[in-house]
Amino acid sequence: MEKMSEDRYLTFALGKGRLANKTMELFEKIGVTCEEMKDKDSRKLIFVNEDLKFRFFLAKGPDVPTYVEYGAADIGVVGKDTIMEENRRVYEVLDLKYGKCRMCVCGPKSAEELLKHHEMIRVASKYPNIAKDYFYNRKHQTVDIIKLNGSVELGPIVKLADVIVDIVETGSTLRENGLEVLEEICPLSARMIVNQVSMQMEPERIKRLITDLRAHL
Ligand code: PRP
Repeated sequence: MEKMSEDRYLTFALGKGRLANKTMELFEKIGVTCEEMKDKDSRKLIFVNEDLKFRFFLAKGPDVPTYVEYGAADIGVVGKDTIMEENRRVYEVLDLKYGKCRMCVCGPKSAEELLKHHEMIRVASKYPNIAKDYFYNRKHQTVDIIKLNGSVELGPIVKLADVIVDIVETGSTLRENGLEVLEEICPLSARMIVNQVSMQMEPERIKRLITDLRAHL
């Protein structure tokens, strides 16, 4: 016989780090706890709440939409930046309102002019797809995009690139390196994403979770 849906685990993929901690704090408010996960010394990758039949695992942020698209996780929590960059077939169902920051084009003040006249410029970013979409489709400016993996602010300083596309939270990294926000691309925050098949198979449990979370935002 087909198992009752209550017997099936709902699996959550959480982006590692600050975001995962914030997510567990929020989940505690709606009674979803996971004691196992609080042990900081543990090297375990997957955690279970047997009462609720929930499983949680931590993954690198950019891998979260991948797990969710393939159904290895029913639900994911990850930054909007990663969702936009990865462009996976998943449902984005809820803005969790934490991890707020902005995706921006940044550089030295002198680079401002380069953004006005459709000049061919070099753009360094950890987010080549977001950068490409912004410059090609929204600004109609042909640019050369250079993918970096972090400390992107170095790009304009060492003249690898004219500008960068990066996340700005407090703005202090920019300030301390003589750079500034030149254009704002979009606001960012943590989002909940859902596998498209899971949404059809477990609509009650997933909708209930969304409703409960929304009440605490
Ligand atoms: C992020 C981002 C900026 C910085 C922005 O980097 O890429 O560098 O934070 O924050 P601020 O506006 O508050 O200074 P992260 O710390 O994730 O490291 P990374 O450089 O390796 O990407």
